[in-house]
Amino acid sequence: MELLTELPTQLPLQRQDAPAPKSLLRFITCGSVDDGKSTLIGRLLYDSKTLLQDQLDAVAQDSRKWGTQGEAIDFALLVDGLAAEREQGITIDVAYRYFATARRKFIVADTPGHEQYTRNMVTGASGADLAVILVDARKGVLEQTRRHSCLVQLIGIRQVVLAINKMDLVGHDEEVFARIAAEYRAFAARIGLAQVTSIPISALSGANMTEPSAAMPWYQGPALLPLLEDCEVDETRLQAKPLRLPIQWVNRPNLDFRGYCGQLASGVLQPGQRVRILPSGRSTRVARLVGLHGDAPLALAGESVTITLEDEVDVSRGDILCAEDSPAEVADQFECTLVWMAEEPMLPGRPYLVKLGTRTVGATVTEPKYKLNVNTLEHLAAKQLELNEIGVCKLALDRAVPFDAYAENRTTGGFIVIDRMTNNTVGAGMLHFALRRAHNIHPQHLDVDQAARSAIKGQQPVVLWFTGLSGAGKSTIANLVEKKLLAQGRHSYLLDGDNLRHGLNKDLGFTAADRVENIRRVAEVARLMVDAGLIVLTAFISPFRAERRMARALLPEGQFIEVHVDTPLDVAEARDVKGLYAKARRGELKNFTGIDSPYEPPEAPELRVDTATMSAEDAAERVLALLRQRGVIG
Ligand code: ADX
Repeated sequence: MELLTELPTQLPLQRQDAPAPKSLLRFITCGSVDDGKSTLIGRLLYDSKTLLQDQLDAVAQDSRKWGTQGEAIDFALLVDGLAAEREQGITIDVAYRYFATARRKFIVADTPGHEQYTRNMVTGASGADLAVILVDARKGVLEQTRRHSCLVQLIGIRQVVLAINKMDLVGHDEEVFARIAAEYRAFAARIGLAQVTSIPISALSGANMTEPSAAMPWYQGPALLPLLEDCEVDETRLQAKPLRLPIQWVNRPNLDFRGYCGQLASGVLQPGQRVRILPSGRSTRVARLVGLHGDAPLALAGESVTITLEDEVDVSRGDILCAEDSPAEVADQFECTLVWMAEEPMLPGRPYLVKLGTRTVGATVTEPKYKLNVNTLEHLAAKQLELNEIGVCKLALDRAVPFDAYAENRTTGGFIVIDRMTNNTVGAGMLHFALRRAHNIHPQHLDVDQAARSAIKGQQPVVLWFTGLSGAGKSTIANLVEKKLLAQGRHSYLLDGDNLRHGLNKDLGFTAADRVENIRRVAEVARLMVDAGLIVLTAFISPFRAERRMARALLPEGQFIEVHVDTPLDVAEARDVKGLYAKARRGELKNFTGIDSPYEPPEAPELRVDTATMSAEDAAERVLALLRQRGVIG
């Protein structure tokens, strides 16, 4: 959620005749392809007559390509150029366009309206002060309009302009405009969008774009560009909020200088000011504030700064420097709104990474409390979140982090979710509040520990984690291994998939979400048993790498031994001891592993046994040999 915030705050374009620094408005345009979004953006760029040089070049080049004569930039060509660029830029989800007028600079995020719209809108809208929502006067408010508006509301954009376009195609009819504007106003009020201005325009002819249109004398409000020049920018509002400086990096060129660098998320920063560093809670004073041209007296929200501190305190990347008297909160469990952006659904309990500001931590999300109908913001029941879905969930982090509610501060209250395996951004979210239960639960120190419990049994506790297809032979081999351990006087326990699914896990089925929860519970139970000093054997398909990795991470280094019972699907299927493969092939059993549910083989298991070429007895011996080699058993 930080594409916009990472853009340079200084635009490359500076008009010669504009001496004072101009404020910057970031806005987003939303609409489907036919609503005339490219035309609208083209018109703004064209009418502001301050195109960036590279855009001028691109248009000029296109003019040459298409054999156009003359120096003048043709408006239609500009629009076509933008559209063509958009089509070519398949990999670019959001395009940012810069323009400026005598009064203000602008960055407009142009997001394509195809099926990835949620993702693109969330990216484009982060940091935007205003949204221009386009509707076609002939069609009025559509489902798309409602979706975009709901997203705009969720993302926290407070100002909306409803641009009712193509007024020329409805005879500039005041009634058409009034009807659409009234319908939209009622909808906007219902979803909590308070500041809405409706403008009747024709992006193509330019009516009401820069000045009042003679064709619509009945409209008394502002034209679009003047409105964009006058509206409030969030930067001004952010300056009035308490100081938040998320530390991006620590600059230590020599032993005498330790500078902390970051972009001011809110507030005003001055040398001498008292600050509190979170999450540590230490207080100190800002010694120096270093800007581009040496020491500076003041920095405002949105600016990038380097500071030094009076005391030698420990500050690292991801910490937040706060106003001492109004610090952020620190917590590790939250309620949040989560926007899911990946093809693969969000699975409750799966380990993900979460990036909040400049900090990345491990995280899991619980089953959604509800998901939102994005046309109405109504609550719907949900077990997981699919692509483009938005839900309210609980978020649990590995570590306590400083934060603000998103409604208070979009920078310190917003986060993205990253897939641990692919490193892709799979979700974006907004923190609501901390869940208190985390505050009141403290780990209890116990005097009898794992070492004491295993010493009395005279063994090294481990988990032997068997994974593989149904019918591969996991239970058979694990059973043999346990018998051999028992014969040697070892203390063990075998957790078996089919057995646990009759008790602890009898509420779970075979959807991806249920399998994740199945393995999470098994991993936690295995951890307790290893803590009790036992040699634990688990026999579960455990088809997903992410959860096997989570199980591994729960245990101390060296106490998780992954055994891949690697049997080709056709061999397992030919055995079909339980007749389940046949059922699955007949379509009577859904989500069957290997048939219509995936199995992700381990990449680096401690041991691989192939039961197509090896007897179960031999495989069990191989496991015991590994235990001896690792010193688990004598
Ligand atoms: S896991 O995927 O969540 O790890 P688990 O090992 O607990 O699965 O359970 C697998 C056992 O459940 C299989 O050995 C098989 O007997 C039975 N089973 C029933 N339905 C399915 C299914 N759809 N997919 C796989 N196994 C199934």
